[in-house]
Amino acid sequence: MTAAAPPGLPAKIHPLVRAFLDAPGAVEDALKGGSSPAHLVFPQVFAENLERLRTVLEAGVGRYRICYAHKVNQSRAFVRTAEAAGVGIDVASPEELASAGGAGFAPERIEVTGPKGEGFLRELVGTGVTISVDNVWELRRVGELAAEFGVVTPVLVRLSGFPGTPVSRFGVPVRQLDEVLEVLVADRARIGFRGFAFHLDSGEPAERVRAVEACLAATERAYEHGLAPSVLNIGGGFRQVFTADADAFDHYVIALREALLGRGEAMAWGGNTFGFHLDGGAVHGTPVFHKYANTVPADRMLAELLAAGLESQGGREFGQVAAENLLEVWLEPGKALVDHAGITVARVEFLKETADGSLLANLDLSRDTVTPADQEVMVDPLLIPARPRTETGATGVFLAGRLCLERDLITNHKVWLPARPEPGDLIVFPNTAAYHMDLSAATASMHRLPPKLAVTRERDGFRVCRDGDYQPERGR
Ligand SMILES: Cc1ncc(COP(=O)(O)O)c(C=O)c1O
Repeated sequence: MTAAAPPGLPAKIHPLVRAFLDAPGAVEDALKGGSSPAHLVFPQVFAENLERLRTVLEAGVGRYRICYAHKVNQSRAFVRTAEAAGVGIDVASPEELASAGGAGFAPERIEVTGPKGEGFLRELVGTGVTISVDNVWELRRVGELAAEFGVVTPVLVRLSGFPGTPVSRFGVPVRQLDEVLEVLVADRARIGFRGFAFHLDSGEPAERVRAVEACLAATERAYEHGLAPSVLNIGGGFRQVFTADADAFDHYVIALREALLGRGEAMAWGGNTFGFHLDGGAVHGTPVFHKYANTVPADRMLAELLAAGLESQGGREFGQVAAENLLEVWLEPGKALVDHAGITVARVEFLKETADGSLLANLDLSRDTVTPADQEVMVDPLLIPARPRTETGATGVFLAGRLCLERDLITNHKVWLPARPEPGDLIVFPNTAAYHMDLSAATASMHRLPPKLAVTRERDGFRVCRDGDYQPERGR
């Protein structure tokens, strides 16, 4: 009888990334000069993700615009790839705006989202970028500034507070629609109203459909007020697929739940319960890491949304309704475009055993440079041994970071590596391009942030350059 394999969270890996990881010495060679840790981005995977969404949009709706949500990653290679592919960009700060401009985006292809203060609004009005306003104050202020500068400013109004949707700090609550329409009508000479927008970070299809219906109803109301909206912006939130094996994921979570109840091998560091509640000898609730279990790819999510029958439109499909009303469907995908387009590489510094018998593998990386907003990342890292091993055998470890903080554990859940890691080995974190690299990264202890490198597959092998130096081929 063979021993049962330890629980695992196998990562889905793009074939191009897999080929790179499998090419002998490729990862070590990429690090040369920069040493570890490093973030590696794959712009060709980004371009492929973009094409997949385009294919769905071309089949499902007449007119559309993809605006790459820059905030997902600071990579210049991604921004340049989006620019060369001819899509738009969604920026959320003066710095992202400068980055988009630097990559060659003309104002007509730039949309500005997120909350904006007085300074940023002053910078935006009159430039020709589309401002997606977050609140009524912004809307009024855009009108006033446009009057002051003698310009017309393109505007989208982001709505929120849809029936059954959790309350959000972003967007104008739909119940304030009357006030919005009043301002749009009063300032129509200064505010070039393009349409309504929403953004939900939910994977729940019904929620998105309700938001679409609410925006279509608002669009109708705008027509009644003599306005001529031509855009419906459905935001981002299209999911990633991290897991290569949903059954294995479920099995891991079952084992983790058992371990939290004290059954079997301990799998949680430092009393972490990952959002579960332990009560009366049972585990309740939804774990914080549930998004890592998703198996529905972004293109399917989008196709299903466009094909969703809308109750308020006599059951007609969203894509059809948009096309018939000559509405251009905009979207702002971030994570869907960078899905599988990045990995993070770190090196094992040393191993140690803690008082409770846990084995820690200390890396030259901190949790915040590979984890978005302190979320637990439920994807197995890969081990690239520094020297060939004869002795293999899965080893359960917690990966620890380089900061002098008790909480700097890169994994609070136990990870089984195929062999006991050794100093000098490389650890590869798969699929880190979406928010994992930059969202929370701090320079605590004055550690420098990991550099970013762009990797492309050429006819004669892989080419690696600094992210900032990457120049894509021009797309369509
Ligand atoms: C307004 C807006 N649009 C788009 C996005 C991108 O979302 P995602 O990466 O989930 O596609 C965000 C993310 O926060 C956002 O706030």
